[in-house]
Amino acid sequence: MPAHMASVDHVPTDPGEQMPIRPRPARRRRIALTAGLGVLLAGCAENAPQDTWQPAGPDARTIDNLQQPVFLAAGVVGVLVFAAVVYCIVRFRDRGQAMPSQSHGKSAVEIGGIVLSASILAAIAVPTFRTIFDLADTSGCDLTVNVTGQQWWWEYAYPAQDGIEAPIVTSGELVIPTGECVLLRITSRDVIHSFWIPKLNGKRDAVPGRIHTLRMEADEPGIYAGQCTEFCGLSHANMKMDAVALNGADFATWVSSQLAPAEAAAEGSPAAEGEAVFTQQCVRCHQVNGLDDTDGNPLIAQADQYLVAGAAPNLTHLMSRTSFAGATYSLLTESCRADLLAATPEEFGAMYLAGVTPECLNRIELEEWLRNAPSKKPMYPTPNAEGLGRGMPYLAISEGDVDKLVDYLITLK
Ligand code: CUA
Repeated sequence: MPAHMASVDHVPTDPGEQMPIRPRPARRRRIALTAGLGVLLAGCAENAPQDTWQPAGPDARTIDNLQQPVFLAAGVVGVLVFAAVVYCIVRFRDRGQAMPSQSHGKSAVEIGGIVLSASILAAIAVPTFRTIFDLADTSGCDLTVNVTGQQWWWEYAYPAQDGIEAPIVTSGELVIPTGECVLLRITSRDVIHSFWIPKLNGKRDAVPGRIHTLRMEADEPGIYAGQCTEFCGLSHANMKMDAVALNGADFATWVSSQLAPAEAAAEGSPAAEGEAVFTQQCVRCHQVNGLDDTDGNPLIAQADQYLVAGAAPNLTHLMSRTSFAGATYSLLTESCRADLLAATPEEFGAMYLAGVTPECLNRIELEEWLRNAPSKKPMYPTPNAEGLGRGMPYLAISEGDVDKLVDYLITLK
């Protein structure tokens, strides 16, 4: 075989066979076209969970009604500019012709270009400003939820209000009633994060020391995925969030179940052994409402002594959620999650309210998390100069205690 053929990735089997050294231009064009189309179509997945083009509530629809015509206008302008550039490249390319006459400026083209682009911008500005003011109006919302970002999870605190007789604190999943405007008051306890549920509304930054408001409303029961969209440190990419919409009756059921304190584990049960481990290892940071010390005094988490954010997720009703570790990992096995996501809007509420059953618990990943959390999610768990860490540290929990802990956590319905 000639030496120059050694570099071809397809090695001819027949010594007489002629192979091109490089892909021919037509083949290269085909590859580029296929790759380009693939990338384009990947954005059009039927049920992409974070698709801003598939609004699922009135606020997201308000945005969609603006982005559709703006995208169209930008697309038309883009195609015209591209066509003009291609025309000029082909029509006026150097063929060795004589130097054309040198002129400077063409008033008609310049003024026309300015007037045309200014008119397009002015036409787009009108609906844009209307949409901005529309969405900024947060008056008249039925329910208020305080949303706090921290490295790397979201806390949702429902103050006592009409329909909620005492405060509720949860994390990972923002539970809202369908068909009602919910007012989110968004802030942060450490660095800047950004709250975004693409199918329900636009983004809002979570800034320490400030409260930004955002409306949220979903048409139908279901899970709406989101993602922190402001770089906030090592696990920014793992800082997810879900909004869970329930119909009015299911939401009321959720509220009353969240208000109940955790039930004490039956004496001598595996859960009781787990509760003891939890009391020693976890309660420093994680609050479980209703958990008492041996003297009968409530055990209050003191995460402010261990973490920069000064808070860790309240675990009182952990198994009423579908995820853990800041919504990074599913509490449900893959098939149970698939069933929940495939539920019709009518079925969804009952399935969600059933919580994580022992059969559906993703025990493997929950145990891995308890064994060594920093290995499952990049964090800065080692305390800084002030003795504060970011994220859950490695706690050197024994294998037996990990088992017991899960036996206890599964009872936190
Ligand atoms: Cu929080 Cu990015």
